[in-house]
Amino acid sequence: MPLASLPVTTSARTGPTRGPAVPAASPDAAIRFDAVRKEYAGSVAVDDLTLEVREGELLVLVGPSGCGKSTTLRMANRLVEPTSGRIVLGGEDVTDVDPVALRRRIGYVIQNVGLFPHRTVAQNVATVPRLLGWDRRRARERVDELLTLVGLDPQRYARRWPHELSGGERQRVGVARALATDPPVLLMDEPFGAVDPVGRARLQQEFARLQRELGTTVMMVTHDIDEAVRMADRVVVLSRGARVEQLAPPLDVVARPASPAVADLVGRGRTARLLALGRLEATDLDEEGAPEGTGQGAAGPRVRPTVRLGAELGDVVAALTDVADAADGGRLDVLDADGRAVGTTSPGSVVRALHRLTAREDAEA
Ligand SMILES: Nc1ncnc2c1ncn2[C@@H]1O[C@H](COP(=O)(O)OP(=O)(O)OP(=O)(O)O)[C@@H](O)[C@H]1O
Ligand SMILES: [Mg+2]
Repeated sequence: MPLASLPVTTSARTGPTRGPAVPAASPDAAIRFDAVRKEYAGSVAVDDLTLEVREGELLVLVGPSGCGKSTTLRMANRLVEPTSGRIVLGGEDVTDVDPVALRRRIGYVIQNVGLFPHRTVAQNVATVPRLLGWDRRRARERVDELLTLVGLDPQRYARRWPHELSGGERQRVGVARALATDPPVLLMDEPFGAVDPVGRARLQQEFARLQRELGTTVMMVTHDIDEAVRMADRVVVLSRGARVEQLAPPLDVVARPASPAVADLVGRGRTARLLALGRLEATDLDEEGAPEGTGQGAAGPRVRPTVRLGAELGDVVAALTDVADAADGGRLDVLDADGRAVGTTSPGSVVRALHRLTAREDAEA
């Protein structure tokens, strides 16, 4: 809704009819990079990037320092101008849009935050709403709502100055500020980098939930492969020159790295990541059909733990660890969505699941 009240970009987001202007773009592309290149005095930050961010997805860019992640983000809102190539946003070439107008409709969380030092936390968060002419009261309510969302009590924080905050608190304010007008597109450059691990996990979760709820298209940069696979709908692994090593859903990136650079990135702790991302499927089970005497959980005659088909493999391992005595043969009954027993799982079946996940589609080759 705030979009409708934007004073400037009347031609922006031209609605459902935007196909013809963008030849090769798929209909659900919110942002498209088309053979984009950025050179700085002889050095190439982004070599030849073609990439689509789908409407409503959370796309995470991950890759080593200096590989061109921030440059890529900054070209989307014209903080950096491409040397060549084209960037299309909501059906429109960004170079046709006034940069200031563009930045008002794209939320941006800057690496190292960039809060206005001479404005309070509340004033920082309310920056764009006020520019868009929201009245004080509406802006104030929004500020309270957003500060609460990012885990900062408005009573305590709204009137503080940026220099009175920790690095992690500043980052939270940066995220709140970027969300202030529910922008349809949000660019986030290492938004949680300075937040402690516990607060970070909570923020990641809250943010991903909110993003799905609002349907915001998000392009986010991180160094942290775990953050990437936890939050992303799709992960883009980049190497030097913003070269795309792999673009795929998290599980694919972890289970089937497309290149040595990706394998390197996910290599350490890969099994733990697979356990967190992979799920138990019918083909992984030890046997077909219902084992006799399966109980109905705590209410049934046999109180024996069960797991659901589709459970996270990590949870299956945890449950197996709990019953790892001989009485049950180290097995657990597996129930389907209707609570019917469909087979059993064991450590061997979890290993089968891991093999299934990491099996190459081209294995016969
Ligand atoms: N204004 C500039 N002038 C010259 N070179 C630049 C400029 N900005 C970035 N670069 C160079 O372009 C390359 C990509 O930089 P970029 O900031 O996009 O990397 P990054 O992937 O975001 O790295 P990090 O993870 O460290 O933030 C780097 O080699 C950097 O030195
Ligand atoms: Mg960067």
